[in-house]
Amino acid sequence: MRRFNRRVFTLPVPLTAFSLFGFGKGSTTSNDDSSQTSTKQHSTSRIGLPRYIDHTALKPETTQSEIAKLCNEAKEYGFASVCINPYHIPYASDLLRTSQNVKLCTVIELCFIKKMLKKGFPLGANSTFTKCCETIESILNGANEIDFVTNVGMIKSNEWDKVAIDMTCVVLASKYTYQWVQSKKSELNRTEVSVIAHYIISTVEELRKTGKAKKVDKNWAKFDDLTNFVQSYNFDTDTKSKKETCLVKVILETCLLTDAEIVRACQVAVQSKCDFVKTSTGFSSSGATASHVSLMRATVDTEAKKLGFKAGTIKVKASGGIRNAVQANEMIKAGADRIGASKGVEIVQEDLKTQSKKTS
Ligand SMILES: *[C@@H]1O[C@H](CO)[C@@H](O)[C@H](O)[C@H]1NC(C)=O
Ligand SMILES: *[C@@H]1O[C@H](CO)[C@@H](O)[C@H](O)[C@H]1NC(C)=O
Repeated sequence: MRRFNRRVFTLPVPLTAFSLFGFGKGSTTSNDDSSQTSTKQHSTSRIGLPRYIDHTALKPETTQSEIAKLCNEAKEYGFASVCINPYHIPYASDLLRTSQNVKLCTVIELCFIKKMLKKGFPLGANSTFTKCCETIESILNGANEIDFVTNVGMIKSNEWDKVAIDMTCVVLASKYTYQWVQSKKSELNRTEVSVIAHYIISTVEELRKTGKAKKVDKNWAKFDDLTNFVQSYNFDTDTKSKKETCLVKVILETCLLTDAEIVRACQVAVQSKCDFVKTSTGFSSSGATASHVSLMRATVDTEAKKLGFKAGTIKVKASGGIRNAVQANEMIKAGADRIGASKGVEIVQEDLKTQSKKTS
């Protein structure tokens, strides 16, 4: 922690959390922003495919030199991001310093003991507080995309209000901290990180219960804007801003959910202002399927429209078990805006080969 994102940003992010949605033109995700519907064609993928890929290495045994290789490949191929565990963020942040285009994505609540993998971890089952602290620390270390696991147990127990709080708090922690880093405010120590996490959670809970936001304790005047930030999040629906923002992707672990649960979880994700819904951690019983991706695509589009957001505001990431170009293109055709894959280089090379065969 205590490291600051050193990329050059044009303007500080405004206080309203709803600049959340403004990452359209001019941001590095612009290639996958333009078309939201499932009308994306295989033919566009020849140039566009690398921009869909989150180049991923999340194994517990991943070494620093593998992280270096990952970052270099991401720059070389023009991938959307590198997606790595929080521990590696400071190192990767240095490596990507010269790249304006490759985002630095981390996963929250995905740290696990290797032994536990077999038992189906990670489940996103830790407390919202822990998720928020992990999120804040990662962003201070240089991350600018956050993939977190929702609490599958909460979904299974029909505790949708808690699911909404969990998602909303991680979104707010991300957006607030990103804004903090961009506006080059002072560094934050660990106590302050937990204060932010605590206030966001208690304020969101209070807002849901009483409609009134909790004021930031006067001992922490430094975070004066936090109450406003959390409160305006609920009411400001400006989706027009084009400001660069920290993207938040919520992993649903779709292989563990019924279709009805996927639909409901997507609706709650949109209401909670997640930027993306994402299929899988890649560590559970199976990964992305095209049918789940199109169900998620359709659901987020409908829900976004209902809430008055611009079409395509909420995106879909397919991940888990995507190992070749055919699978990747299938996911894109089903409506995916991003592909999480550890085989990004192979996928892109294979795609190029297929495309050149077709045209020759
Ligand atoms: C949950 O969070 C605590 C505190 O950060 C941590 O010690 C524990 O390992 C986490 N558990 C899981 C399953 O991630
Ligand atoms: C963290 O910062 C606060 C002031 O914002 C200060 O009161 C506190 O002592 C600091 N804690 C540590 C461990 O440095």
